[in-house]
Amino acid sequence: MTAKDTLHRPLGLLAELTHRCPLGCPYCSNPLALESRDDELDTATWARVMREAAALGVLQVHLSGGEPAARRDLAEITAAAHHAGLYTNLITSGVGLTDARITALYDAGLDHVQISIQDGEEKSADHIAGYRGAFARKNELAAQVRRLGMLLTVNMVVHRANIERIEAMVELALALDASRVEIAHVQYYGWALKNRAALMPTRAQVERARTFVEDLRAQHHGRIVIDAVVPDYHARYPKPCLGGWGRRSLNINPSGRVLPCHAAEVIPGLEFWSVREHALADIWANAPAFNAFRGTAWMQEPCASCARRDQDFGGCRCQAFLLTGDARATDPVCELSPRHTQVVELAAIQDDAPYDYRHQRSPA
Ligand code: SF4
Ligand code: FES
Repeated sequence: MTAKDTLHRPLGLLAELTHRCPLGCPYCSNPLALESRDDELDTATWARVMREAAALGVLQVHLSGGEPAARRDLAEITAAAHHAGLYTNLITSGVGLTDARITALYDAGLDHVQISIQDGEEKSADHIAGYRGAFARKNELAAQVRRLGMLLTVNMVVHRANIERIEAMVELALALDASRVEIAHVQYYGWALKNRAALMPTRAQVERARTFVEDLRAQHHGRIVIDAVVPDYHARYPKPCLGGWGRRSLNINPSGRVLPCHAAEVIPGLEFWSVREHALADIWANAPAFNAFRGTAWMQEPCASCARRDQDFGGCRCQAFLLTGDARATDPVCELSPRHTQVVELAAIQDDAPYDYRHQRSPA
């Protein structure tokens, strides 16, 4: 970072409370090496982190995982975030969260729930999740969330097997009385990279989906917000990943290492600091990993002199590394990247191999 670059305040904190998860989704974006239960931060440390986050300017905390409900102290952590003045969003698979527990979370101050649903129809949804009964449980949980009066977002992860059913997914989100549905195309990090060819939609599917989403937005305007972006490998320009590295958000992994993004540990040589040894404000300002790609001084051409560099920040550092071996390279999703043809070629590779599910040996 240069003296010219401003140190922004983070607005969002992704708190990965655990990597444990009962589902086995083939598109899991968590790292290949998961943190063990024994290394997870304890309740008191998470409570301190919530207070430090609020003092640093964070407005929203996303309680995530893995499956955050695998933590028995989820209500205490939620209460700590609420008392610190943070808006609390639970990102859950819905499995392992009983009606009694979601009610306890509501009582602890939970504001919003985001439930991921794998498809608009049961058989396919359970197949993708690798868990029989997941779809039914998610639907019951959504109903309970709305009965309690919390806002609900339905997160639909889209790929080749379900991209033709976007309409059914939006209908389901409406039936569940969600205020927002996120059509989130699979991103190829972590475990998802193993299943890239099995998950990759065709260009024709992506084009049809884009038209569907536009029609559905017009049809349901005022009833539900439909969020969708063009998937990375089929886009002309990259996404402004997290609104820029070390600029608007931070991520704390289950053992307390603070990362600029959930995938940052794939980049070799970065030095991450832990909330076990440092205050969050110190980490945000001074941890070497946060300063590695702040601002624009680190950029190579074509990003360095590009008019869009303050809009997309050169794309995603993790994706640049995963696809080129150089974390400073222009994200090859960008059509101005000299390596863009590589992405075009990968987007054209589809195979029908069975999913490599991410089942953990001791999920709960
Ligand atoms: Fe963004 Fe870099 Fe591509 Fe310009 S060259 S559009 S800054 S990724
Ligand atoms: Fe790490 Fe995009 S996921 S910068």
